[in-house]
Amino acid sequence: MAGHGTPIPMTARKSPPLKGVAQIPGDKSVSHRSLILGALCVGETRISGLLEGQDILDTAKAMTAFGANVERVGDGDWVVNGVGVGGFAEPEDVIDCGNAGTGVRLIMGAMATCPITATFTGDASLRSRPMGRILDPLMLFGAQSVGRTGGQLPLTLVGAREPVPVRYTSPHASAQIKSAVLLAGLNTPGETVLIEHEKTRDHSERMLRGFGAEIETVKTAEGYQITLQGQPELKPQTIAVPRDPSSAAFPVAAALIVEGSDILVPNIGLNPTRAGLLTTLSEMGADISFENVRTEGGEPVADLRVRASALQGIEVPPDRAPSMIDEYPILSVVAAFACGKTVMRGIKELRVKECDRIDAMARGLETMGVTIEEGEDFLIVHGQNGDVAGGGTAQTHLDHRIAMSFLCMGLATQKPVSVDDGGAIATSFPIFEDLMAGLGAAIQRDNH
Ligand code: S3P
Repeated sequence: MAGHGTPIPMTARKSPPLKGVAQIPGDKSVSHRSLILGALCVGETRISGLLEGQDILDTAKAMTAFGANVERVGDGDWVVNGVGVGGFAEPEDVIDCGNAGTGVRLIMGAMATCPITATFTGDASLRSRPMGRILDPLMLFGAQSVGRTGGQLPLTLVGAREPVPVRYTSPHASAQIKSAVLLAGLNTPGETVLIEHEKTRDHSERMLRGFGAEIETVKTAEGYQITLQGQPELKPQTIAVPRDPSSAAFPVAAALIVEGSDILVPNIGLNPTRAGLLTTLSEMGADISFENVRTEGGEPVADLRVRASALQGIEVPPDRAPSMIDEYPILSVVAAFACGKTVMRGIKELRVKECDRIDAMARGLETMGVTIEEGEDFLIVHGQNGDVAGGGTAQTHLDHRIAMSFLCMGLATQKPVSVDDGGAIATSFPIFEDLMAGLGAAIQRDNH
């Protein structure tokens, strides 16, 4: 499991133009939800294109521990025979969610209204992340928890025996909080209502509807109000997991900064709640064309053609943050190669990701010779107009996106860029090294 193994130091070097086709693995958010929702219906849910990263394998293992039958039947093909809403069995052992914040928070939501007790833990990164934001609403349903100070893992959750419906306004722009509340609402009689001020990724709402739940979103003066009717009988589904736009961001960014590059990234989802990075890059002058635009599984999809581009720094609108929250690390790398300043505000949620991503990017960029300005909820990167020094080692703090961001950076810096540990990359993008090598990127493990 990531973070439990020996560190894997890696180095990226200035590379020739990147060329070819980047076949991106399945979406991490949709993969977690496919397994969890599959476990919550009686009958067989068939999933193709599942991301086989460690985060998802940990969720698959957890669903088995709660009584579902989860089986890998082929490359990315999985079958889940679920237990039904409210049917989770009590796990015999601690649930280890590894590095996965989404995994643990969604699973805690799903079990919080079942009459069972479970104990959760994770790796050093996950154990340092705040769980109070999930526990607060789950307590309102009637669940109880005992954890470390601030609700950190390991913690034990005692599910509500007689759950009561909740109306909850989320204090953070977080799809994980929203999804935990909705999943808890499944086994609760009556209407569960979740209000979010800013629209976050809506995979849970779309998928719950697809599985047969009655759920509706309306925009009110308070924000986006999502109402779920409790205790539905979910119907097993056949799911084709779309490819992950957050993983696609790495080869896309690398192609933009490595001179002469021209790559194709097929089948990327353009769900507006996830596509903020592509809008931002286009505004910076990126040469990205959207080919073969179509609708698949109810979501807009396109093939991205990306060519190396001269980029201009911009001010990213803060209200775009939820739609590109995982992409700020790689955007700040792209920004280092642009001309002028890139200003990223309204990004305080980055401080509670797999690591404090504002701090990790700021320190790493400084090490590579880039001037930054940093505050509690902002990061400003001073672009070097294509000429970035590199020549240092970035600390990755068990964070896959920090590791991949600096490795992409090193493909275009004067001197190589190293990371102390690329082990966490396997949590979300297990084929990253092979895929990048296939495009011509010079990324190596240091001991090879
Ligand atoms: C996710 C939501 C986001 C995101 C994470 C995946 C999800 O977290 O950063 O990688 O699948 O719901 P927050 O909800 O905490 O913003």
